[in-house]
Amino acid sequence: MSETFPDAAPSQPATVTVLDHPLVQHKLTRLRQRDTSTAGFRRLTRELSLLMAYEATRDLKLEPVEIETPLEPTTGMLLSGKKLCFVSVLRAGNGILDGMLDLVPAARVGHIGLYRDPATLEPVEYYMKLPDDLSERLCIVVDPMLATGHSAVAAVSKLKQQGARQITFVCMLCVPEGLATFQAAHPDVRIVTAAVDRGLDDHGYIRPGLGDAGDRLFGTK
Ligand code: URA
Repeated sequence: MSETFPDAAPSQPATVTVLDHPLVQHKLTRLRQRDTSTAGFRRLTRELSLLMAYEATRDLKLEPVEIETPLEPTTGMLLSGKKLCFVSVLRAGNGILDGMLDLVPAARVGHIGLYRDPATLEPVEYYMKLPDDLSERLCIVVDPMLATGHSAVAAVSKLKQQGARQITFVCMLCVPEGLATFQAAHPDVRIVTAAVDRGLDDHGYIRPGLGDAGDRLFGTK
């Protein structure tokens, strides 16, 4: 059991980290633009995901190792123990997964398939495949849009049922109502996002947002 993530629910919600970096803002603005092509959207998502992964992994544990440079012995630091599991919330999460795996190619990967019922906006599970040692890993759940928060809440609940104890949720965009829903359900889960937008419209879309992330990533309508 990690000291940083005790069993008891914390009295304060875990942090929401909004990435504050010119490259993040630039890429996000390009993602928002309606005339950005499918190829451009995919590339920008991948690049932004790499920057988000950098932030989401900053608390990974290190251990000292003795190495030799071409000039002398020295002590370096390497990641210790079991490390990461990225969990993609299908299908749009896969766009973020690519950038994360660029940074941590050895990470384990899980998939959770949820679709949003268009009438109720509630998540419906249709697929789940996860590594079996989740309790020993930092699980980074990726979904580009934290809108109502229902899918994110359901995905994280599934992970906890499967043993995950240390979870971070990463999205490109979120809204205050989605954050509130998520934090009420999972106050122990850190959120990393590129921006907090104004709010949801009547169809559950984030405004100003970037449209349907899955459609824009995969060129569907
Ligand atoms: N999912 C999306 O892809 N876009 C939104 O604006 C909300 C949910």
